[in-house]
Amino acid sequence: MAELGHRVIGLDVDAQRVAALSAARPPFHEPGFAELLTRTVASGRLTFTTDYADLAGADVHFLALGTPQRADGLGADLGMIESALDSLVPLLAARGGARTLIAGKSTVPVGTARRLHARVAGIAGATVVWNPEFLREGFAVSDTLRPDRLVYGLADPAGAEAEHEVALLDRVYAPMLATSIPRKVYSLESAELVKVSANSFLATKISFINAISELCDITGADVADVAEAIGMDDRIGRKFLRAGVGFGGGCLPKDLRGLISRAGELGAVDSFAFLRDIDAINTGRREYMLRRARAALGDSLEGRRVAVLGAAFKPDTDDVRDSPALDIAVRLVGEGADVSITDPAALANVRARFPSLHAIEDVEEALAGAELVLLLTEWPLYRELDPARAGTLVAARRLIDGRNVLDLAAWRRAGWDASGLGRR
Ligand code: UGA
Repeated sequence: MAELGHRVIGLDVDAQRVAALSAARPPFHEPGFAELLTRTVASGRLTFTTDYADLAGADVHFLALGTPQRADGLGADLGMIESALDSLVPLLAARGGARTLIAGKSTVPVGTARRLHARVAGIAGATVVWNPEFLREGFAVSDTLRPDRLVYGLADPAGAEAEHEVALLDRVYAPMLATSIPRKVYSLESAELVKVSANSFLATKISFINAISELCDITGADVADVAEAIGMDDRIGRKFLRAGVGFGGGCLPKDLRGLISRAGELGAVDSFAFLRDIDAINTGRREYMLRRARAALGDSLEGRRVAVLGAAFKPDTDDVRDSPALDIAVRLVGEGADVSITDPAALANVRARFPSLHAIEDVEEALAGAELVLLLTEWPLYRELDPARAGTLVAARRLIDGRNVLDLAAWRRAGWDASGLGRR
């Protein structure tokens, strides 16, 4: 938003994070973000604080807090949003009736925004709107500055206040709207549901193709062929049909479970039962990979050397939340395997969570002596590995490509027993 020309103050309760951001040091790995942060901090338009009082003059407060899965596994933990709103209320009341928007960006169970809206209803000039965020990690900068669409959720899209609310959000996004990015005005509930529906639909596509890939393994069909040809039908589309060890990260798994749980609360249990299967197919992929690893090594993993390429939940991020790669690595260790895991960005996070895992920076070092290599996050670095060179490092040329990105024929020509998931 500072890049769009606005004066922005970012607040976080974590003083260390605020200090790092103020010094233009990104607290996570995200392509293009360091440059953007440096530029906007240097411009003076972007500052950071831990003190809510510094936000007093703002026209719009964006709530971009995490809504993690609750510890009981049911629904989202809204504690951070609630406490941020509690802290904002005195500031809103002190604005003397000046129009102030609280714009939610976080992914929340449908109905949350209406409840938050009711909490500020008595404060003159203050309103809650919902403005979901659709960025992907790894593409955060471009997705944010050039999104497919902007969605504004309003308490009453046909009401007297709607015009002012839309005008204020339009001022925020003016440079983007000038480039014809579609902007849709809906109710609060529709806006909330757009976000969770999109993520659950994407999750459904992935689990669907993963189920098909299991049939490919049984029958000798190739899932890449099936995905390619069904994707040529515009109604289906090519994207999110890459079979492999499944989806992870802080969004798809959590949002899927959040939708199941919220639908249940709202009385639509039966219609959402299929999403439990989508989740089960996805987590089943990790077990499937373990079965394949066991089979490759003659049924027992005890004492066997396994190299795991990739720890992040996907490339171009250091995020290991619900990462299939890391989960599989930890389970291999649980079965007695001697595992080396490598990743170009995520090893600090791996070490913080699993200090006992053998985390190795250098790919060649990770491959050394391996009896089985598993590619679990498709970083370009691993896609470009030279099979002949890699073959000189390992103890046995066995490879399972858990992301279906390698040219298996080339690896086989170099003497590898190489397979994918659902590939010929
Ligand atoms: C996802 C959505 O794509 C974003 O639109 C959304 O804004 C974001 O969640 C969010 O809710 O904040 P993200 O979690 O960053 O973005 O990552 P994705 O690119 O969606 O990938 C999710 C997982 O699916 C990864 O583990 C990836 O490896 C896996 N995946 C993706 C597949 O297994 N197959 C595919 O064909 C595509």
